[in-house]
Order: sequence, then structure tokens, then C-alpha cells
Amino acid sequence: MEPLPFSQACENNKTFILEILQRHLTSHGRVLEIGSGTGQHAEYFAARFPDLTWLCTDLAENLPGLNQRILQAALPNLPAAVELDVTRHDWPAGKVRAVFSANTLHIMPASAVKDFFPGVARQLETDGLLLVYGPFKYQGEFTTESNARFDQWLKARDPASGIRDFETLIGYAKEVGLELLEDNAMPANNQLLVWRRTG
Ligand SMILES: C[S@@+](CC[C@H](N)C(=O)[O-])C[C@H]1O[C@@H](n2cnc3c(N)ncnc32)[C@H](O)[C@@H]1O
Repeated sequence: MEPLPFSQACENNKTFILEILQRHLTSHGRVLEIGSGTGQHAEYFAARFPDLTWLCTDLAENLPGLNQRILQAALPNLPAAVELDVTRHDWPAGKVRAVFSANTLHIMPASAVKDFFPGVARQLETDGLLLVYGPFKYQGEFTTESNARFDQWLKARDPASGIRDFETLIGYAKEVGLELLEDNAMPANNQLLVWRRTG
């Protein structure tokens, strides 16, 4: 059997993310994760929120490794992952209580970031939450030198990727009825942003 895909960053950040999720994911329902990657977050969080169904998604190329982990985890509230490319219109059916996404907005192209927000808004129940973890810029400035270097590295790989402006995201979110509730500073120069769908 192939070794499971693994991210050290997920191991480092999952307990800090959990602390924030525990304040917000307090009811029953479904959580849609966008860009689940290795599935380490999903496995860890699904085990800690047994009343929530954790629905993993990612681009087709990542599904085999992701589903291998989900199969091994064998958690009743962690079904097989499904394909979701935020630039397409075939998002999974049915409303969800919350959308969670970690370290995705600086990876997907800027045009896909624009598609992310209306897609999320369509998917969320009224009062549903969007929780996005990752590095961001404020007023065009990186929060640290290491994030500036990370951005250069990202752009050398893919010029359409890069650390996003907080204000741009707030604008996209506002257009689709998402109100910012929290901007949590996290270890390793990251943030966890929380929005609520109003109306
Ligand atoms: C750096 S990985 C993060 C994975 C995981 N969430 C984590 O925190 O380790 C970025 C993820 O974004 C996904 N991604 C990139 N473009 C996407 C798109 N257009 N729609 C959905 N997911 C996308 C990638 O496939 C990948 O799983």
C-alpha cells in the first residue's frame, strides 16, 4: 500500500485550529472542507466533532491519497471525499452548516479565489460559517519577512498564486453576503478568518 500523503504543517497547526473551531462548530450538520489535501485536518477534526459530518473535497488529482486516509480512518462521520474545483459550477449538493478551508487561497489562482466566495455563499445555510486558515497581507503589506519570501517562492512556481490581500477577500465576501466575525492571529504567521452568511 502507498504511504499516505503527509503534511508537517497540518500536524503543527491542527491543535491551534481546533481551539477556534470548538468555539464555532457547536451544532449538528455538515461541514464542507475545500482543498482537503492530505486529509489530516479532516481526520483530526471529524474525530473531535462526532455530531458533524465532515465532507472532504479536492481537485480530482488529490482524491486517491485523500480517500486512502479517509478509508483507513474509518470514522462514521467522515465519508469518502468528492471532487470540487471551486472554478466549476458542480459543487456538492445540499446546504452545509460551515465551510472550512486551510492553506488554499494562496495556492489557487487569483481568478479561482474570486469564484470561491460566491460558491461558498451558495452552499451555506443562513447563519452558516466560513472558516479560512492561511497567511494574508494587510493594506498590501506582508505580516512578516518570511511571508514575503513565501510569496516570492509561490509566484516563482505559479505567477497566478500568492498570498492574498485581506481587504480584497473582505470585499469579495461582502458582495455575497458574508460578514466578517473574527480575524484570529495564529502561530507561524497565519490567520484564521471567520465569516457568517447573513440573509
Ligand atoms: C497547500 S494545499 C492545502 C491542503 C490542506 N488543506 C492543508 O492545509 O494541508 C492547497 C490545496 O488547494 C487545492 N486547490 C487548488 N486549487 C483548487 C481549486 N480550484 N478548487 C479547489 N481546491 C483547490 C489543492 O488541490 C490542494 O489540496
